[in-house]
Amino acid sequence: MNRGHWGSRLAFVLAAAGSAIGLGNIWKFPYITYVNGGGKFVILYLFCILLVGLPVMLAEMILGRSTQKGPVGSVEHISGKKSGWRGMGMLGVFASFSMMTFYGVVAGWVLSYIVLSLIGRFNGMQASEFSTLFTSLASSPWLNVGGSTVFLGLSLAIVLGGVKQGLEKFCNVLMPVLIGIMVLLCVNSMFSESEGFSKAIKFMFSMDGELKGHAILEALGHAFFSLSIGMGAMLTYGSYMSKDGDLVKSAVLVAFLDTFVALMACIIIFSTLLGHGVEVGQSVGLVFQTLPYEFAKASYGSLINLSFFILLFLAALTSGISLVEVPAAYLIDKGYTRNTSTLIIGGLIWIISIPCALSGTPEWNAVFGGWSFFDTMDNMVSWYLLPLGGLLICLYVGFVMPDKMRKNEYFTGSSSAQIFYTVWLILVRFIAPMIVVVIMLNKLGFITNQEFDSYFSSMLGSSKSQESITP
Ligand code: PHE
Repeated sequence: MNRGHWGSRLAFVLAAAGSAIGLGNIWKFPYITYVNGGGKFVILYLFCILLVGLPVMLAEMILGRSTQKGPVGSVEHISGKKSGWRGMGMLGVFASFSMMTFYGVVAGWVLSYIVLSLIGRFNGMQASEFSTLFTSLASSPWLNVGGSTVFLGLSLAIVLGGVKQGLEKFCNVLMPVLIGIMVLLCVNSMFSESEGFSKAIKFMFSMDGELKGHAILEALGHAFFSLSIGMGAMLTYGSYMSKDGDLVKSAVLVAFLDTFVALMACIIIFSTLLGHGVEVGQSVGLVFQTLPYEFAKASYGSLINLSFFILLFLAALTSGISLVEVPAAYLIDKGYTRNTSTLIIGGLIWIISIPCALSGTPEWNAVFGGWSFFDTMDNMVSWYLLPLGGLLICLYVGFVMPDKMRKNEYFTGSSSAQIFYTVWLILVRFIAPMIVVVIMLNKLGFITNQEFDSYFSSMLGSSKSQESITP
C-alpha cells in the first residue's frame, strides 16, 4: 500500500507546525501564562520545550521515519507483531481519536464566532451580552453538534485527499495565511494599543511575578499538548518524510514556530486586555467573552474579531487533520485504503463526539447526571495519555530501538554534531522520562501541588508581588 510522502522538507515542517500550532497556543497558553505570573513562567516553559518537548518530538520523528509506519506499525516493524510495546502505539491511536472528539466542539464554537462576526452581530454589544451569547451557544445541542460535525467533515475532507494532495496542499496555504494574520494582528496591537503593548511586553518578560513550584507541572503538561507529542502525530508525519531530509533541523523549526505563535498570541491578547485595564480572566471566557468585546471597541473592531477567529479556526483545522491522520494511518498500515480508513475513523469519531458536544447543554447534562463527558475526555488525554505516551516513546526510542538504527536515522540528512546526539540521547533516556514520571505522580495524587511549591519555591519564587504588573 502506497502510504504517500511529503513533496519537500518545507512541506513536512509546515504540516508538523500546523499540527502543533492549535487551540492550545492561542486559547490556552495566554491564560496559563497570565495565572502563573508572566515572565518567569515563560522562561520555565521555554526550558520545558528545550529539555523535554523538543527531544521527545525528535524521538517520535526518528521512529516514524526509520520505519515509514504509524505508531503501531513502527513498533511491529522493530519488535515484531507480538511485542507488548504495540500497546504504546495503540495508546497514541486512542489518544488522538479521543482528543478529536472534544477538540472539534471548541473548534465548532470558533466557527460560530466567525459567522457571527461576518454578519456583524458583535457591533454595539455590551460586555454582559457577550457572556449571554457564549452561554447560549455552548448550551445549544444543535450548535454544538453541528459545529463539531462541520469541523470533523472539513478535517476528513483534507485527510481523504492524502498526504500530498490533502495535508500538504492545505498546510502549504493555510500555515502562511495563519502566520500572516498573526503578524498583522500583532502589528495592529503595537500601533493601536501602544500602551497595552508595552504593558504586555513588560508582563511577559519581566521577572517580577511570583512563580509557584507546581507551575512546572503546568508548563510541562502544556508543552506536550502544544507540541502535539505523546500520541504519535509527529511520528506519523515523520513516517511520510523522505530519507534525505534533516530531522534535527525540522524538529527545532517546528518547536520554534509553535513557541513563537504562542508568544505572539499572548502579545495580541494582553495588549488589548491590559491596555483596556481588564482582568485577563478564566480560559473559556477569555477568548469567547472578554476578548471579542474588547476587540470590538477598536476602530476596525469587526475586522479584528473576524481575523482573530479565522486565525483560531485555521490553527484548529491544521491540528484537527493530524488528529484524524494518526488513527487513519493505523488502518492504512493494516492494508485498508485511505478512503475506507478515513471514513471508518471519521464515523467513529463523530459518534463519540456527540456526547462530548452535548455534555455542556443543561438538558443532556442532567441526563448524564452532571458528569461532563467533555471534561473527562479532555483531562484523560491532557493529563494522562499524552505524558504516558511521551514516557513510553522516550523509553522505546532510548532503550529498545536498535542503537545503529537510531543513530543512523538521526544523522541521515543532518549535519548535527556528535555531541548534540549524545545530549539528545541522555535527555530521551533519563531526563525527560524522570520529569514525566513526576508529572504523572502529581496527577495521580502521590505528590501534591503544595509539596511541589515547598520544594521549588526557594529556587523559582520571588517575594515580590505581582501588583506592579497586573492592571
Ligand atoms: N498541538 C495542538 C494545540 O496546541 C493540539 C494537538 C495535540 C494536536 C496533539 C494534535 C495532536 O492545540
